[in-house]
Amino acid sequence: MRQIVIDHISEYLQEFCRECGIEYSAPLVDVQRPPRSEMGDFSLASPMRLAKQLKKPPLEIAKSIAEKIRSGNKFFEKVETAPPGFVNFFLKNDTISDALGEVFGKTHECVKSHNPSTVVIDYSSVNIAKQMHVGHLRSTIIGDVLARVLEARGKTVIRQNHLGDWGLPIAMVLWKVSPVLREIEKSGKDASAELPLEKLEGYYRASAKECSESKSAAEEVHKILIKLQNGDSVLLADWKTITRLSMHEVYRMYKILDVKLYEENERGESFYRDMLAETVAKISESGKLVESQGAKCVFLSQFKTKDGDPLPIIVQKSDGGYNYDTFDLAALRYRIDLLHADRIIYVTDSRQALHFSQLFALGKELKWTERSGKEAILEHVTFGSVLGEDGKPLKTRSGENIKLSDLLQEAIDKAHSVVNEKNPDLSSEKKLAVAMSVGIGAVKYADLSQNRNNDYIFSFDRMLSLNGNTAPYLQYAHARVCSIFRKGSVIESQIPQKPLEMNETERLLALKILQLPEIVSLVETELRPHYLCTYLFELASTFAVFYDECPILTAATENQKLSRISLCKQVRDVISFGLSLLGIESPQEM
Ligand code: ARG
Repeated sequence: MRQIVIDHISEYLQEFCRECGIEYSAPLVDVQRPPRSEMGDFSLASPMRLAKQLKKPPLEIAKSIAEKIRSGNKFFEKVETAPPGFVNFFLKNDTISDALGEVFGKTHECVKSHNPSTVVIDYSSVNIAKQMHVGHLRSTIIGDVLARVLEARGKTVIRQNHLGDWGLPIAMVLWKVSPVLREIEKSGKDASAELPLEKLEGYYRASAKECSESKSAAEEVHKILIKLQNGDSVLLADWKTITRLSMHEVYRMYKILDVKLYEENERGESFYRDMLAETVAKISESGKLVESQGAKCVFLSQFKTKDGDPLPIIVQKSDGGYNYDTFDLAALRYRIDLLHADRIIYVTDSRQALHFSQLFALGKELKWTERSGKEAILEHVTFGSVLGEDGKPLKTRSGENIKLSDLLQEAIDKAHSVVNEKNPDLSSEKKLAVAMSVGIGAVKYADLSQNRNNDYIFSFDRMLSLNGNTAPYLQYAHARVCSIFRKGSVIESQIPQKPLEMNETERLLALKILQLPEIVSLVETELRPHYLCTYLFELASTFAVFYDECPILTAATENQKLSRISLCKQVRDVISFGLSLLGIESPQEM
């Protein structure tokens, strides 16, 4: 709706500028949503921007613009002015219902932009031989939502799971696990049964501990790393086995979480192994490479240590090995030159902020972010931590990291008892399916509905509540419309495309429905899923008021009933589409 209003007003504003002899530009049409409905459905703040140029008080400008728009207008019911220089617009009911008619049955299409581009999203990016814990949850689900939203906007989205699979930790695991694999081979047993991820992680921990305590252990592991990176065939085969065993469990989690990451999205550090030498050589050609204590480094003047000394970006260690920075530099070239990325989004927690600002700065400095004269946009999407109800990082009672799989199972079990209580007549099969959608939806939504930069407190009770800004509340609003339609035997194809009449409550609901495209576009630019959550919550709350005040199946007249059913359908479609962008299901009943 906002875009329709902007398009409409801009014509008048262009004419106004022409008459005043000043230049018009699109950003001049500053259309806002007023804080209160008495101030109109939309307001124009442009007079304040024009005051200086026109040397006139903003209110006077507002009055002239209002006058111009008022004459012969069929779009607005009322056009008013308000100090210090706003023009306030009240839409006609017909304008609103026509706009509803335009989007009826086309929820997917109405959020598309006509500006194609390619976006690479680097998310989840788990480490091999380590279990996913709640920290990984954030990158995985925030990244997945960004991918879904950008896809809905019509972008070509390329998902990249930048696995941690080629650094020192993997050598630590190999050191312990290679001999175990030999034993398993000898016994003819099945490696996947003998070495679940939990066990692999145990070996990794034991090895890391030994390396930190014993120099000779560390040296041995280091030798393994060099041998692996030089392509030793036995180590490579074991590495591959460990990677697959490890990812097997990760994919089980993705499936439960309904996260769209598959084997074809894997571009681990190892993927770049043959590009690393070339990457360092390219930096050397640029003349920016400096040897410092045997390591190959780049010093960019804007990066300093706490003491003000130059802070290096190490691209090759003194022993010839490559590191996290080298992998990311190689990945940057790959993503821009081969994947043709116009925008690259990295989703990791805020502790990696320095790494990414160095990477982005060096990429720009080397002009690796440019392709056919266009500069790719690089963004680091950061997030805070997940805290327990005590406000400390989420841990089990005994102080260990909580396993993601346990946490999700608990959410499903808790949702199951809620469903049992609310809808005891549902078949046990349906109950289980609903518990799955509600439990997983609640966990994801609790995360997504927060501004991602904040830490948030993980509380099952709060996230599963049927009241408040939660997934179950939205799912419930959706299920309610489905149930009204079942009860009224509503035939979808017979629902009118727009309401035939609207009272004030219905009008507010209609305006909320029409806000969807604006919100999806905002999530695309700001990369913050909580805007979509807040919007869906406002929509569901507005719907709850409507549901209380406006009888639907028992409406006074047939026109009223049909109008309300039409609004209900749009609410249902927007909620289920919005939830699908959040990777959350919308059950028909619950
Ligand atoms: N595996 C890394 C970690 O767990 C995250 C990788 C993020 N992506 C990247 N291109 N560096 O910390």
